[in-house]
Amino acid sequence: MLNIDYIIDILPPRVRTNLEPYFEAVGVMREMKDPKVLSSLGPAGVRGLFLQRGKQGVPIQMPSSHSAHFDFSYPADQPEMRTLYERAKAHQWNGSTDLPWETYVDPMNPEKPILPPEFFSSAITDNSPVKLSVKEERRLQADLACWTLSQFLHGEQGALMAAAQVTESVQFFDGKLYGSTQIMDEGRHVEVFHRYLDRKVGKLYQINDNLFVIIDALMRDSRWDMKFLGMQIMVEGLALGAFGALYQMTGEPLLKELLKRVIQDEARHVHYGVLALREHIQTELSERERREREDWAFEVALLMRNRFMAFEVYEEWFEGQMTRKEWANLTFQAPGMERFRHTMFSRLVPNLREIGLLTDRIRPHYERVGLMRYFDGRNALQISGESMLDELDSVPDAA
Ligand SMILES: [Fe+2]
Ligand SMILES: [Fe+2]
Repeated sequence: MLNIDYIIDILPPRVRTNLEPYFEAVGVMREMKDPKVLSSLGPAGVRGLFLQRGKQGVPIQMPSSHSAHFDFSYPADQPEMRTLYERAKAHQWNGSTDLPWETYVDPMNPEKPILPPEFFSSAITDNSPVKLSVKEERRLQADLACWTLSQFLHGEQGALMAAAQVTESVQFFDGKLYGSTQIMDEGRHVEVFHRYLDRKVGKLYQINDNLFVIIDALMRDSRWDMKFLGMQIMVEGLALGAFGALYQMTGEPLLKELLKRVIQDEARHVHYGVLALREHIQTELSERERREREDWAFEVALLMRNRFMAFEVYEEWFEGQMTRKEWANLTFQAPGMERFRHTMFSRLVPNLREIGLLTDRIRPHYERVGLMRYFDGRNALQISGESMLDELDSVPDAA
């Protein structure tokens, strides 16, 4: 089989710069070993990675063929979801008036960094072959923070659409009521992240190709539980971990307050995802269908772990000066990314266990990639937003 790294190494630099994104895309596709996973994510991969549909600067249509599930008998079918619905109504907040928007934010201010240098940028500036001035280092740090927040915003837009689709298609009536609050929550998250980027940072990065692929695949999948597994458990689980890590590390007070509010909403969303999928996977799916979801979750978890490498910042700053692979290695090893992965998987793995997608069959795969150490952690039903914040506040230096 052809060794892509070898081919990249022997290409002239200019050709290499042009072709490397495509080799990167081929690498992502080759990582999807399971044919069912490939058939689920492959077409989205072509649209996102090769055609770059997320980066054309025009609105995109993503058709979907799920059914809207109606029940005119209005059953009280899921008491825990009804309780969550009541809690969500009581904890609504107003993105316009409940945050201190008057706070002055300077993304270049080293005293109050949005993302401290140890999160990302010092690993790049200390080890990169390209030397930057102090001012450039601060600007790179601000750009990496902006890239991270931009991906949060794009993920929130995906969550808004997914929450709307799932609310239509889920069969639990109490789930629909709960889902209506999540749609409002996600709309508010889009509002506040966009306002922060627009008014306080003044810049917006395009959507990362790999995030686009996951969103595109989920939007078009006709099965509600796949939308749910992908968005509510995987992407939201990742987001909750990322928000927690950033909440702990940011030195910028407005963003900290914003994240504090968003984390409490997101904890409810993941809680709902675990409730709905636990019931569905354990009582309604065939063994074959359950296995498909088990394989899908594992491969998407690996994709998310390995592939969010801020290439959009690389292209702006370092393209032609170092290879994409060198950049990927620098960012993968950054302490903030390490912490981010740790927080993300300590949230995600116990939830996969709780919904029944970590059976004896799949566990050796998680063992092989070092993720079984999170197996005994607490799942979303055991962690409220408040308790998560208490934990993050009490251990300031370890997510
Ligand atoms: Fe959200
Ligand atoms: Fe959410």
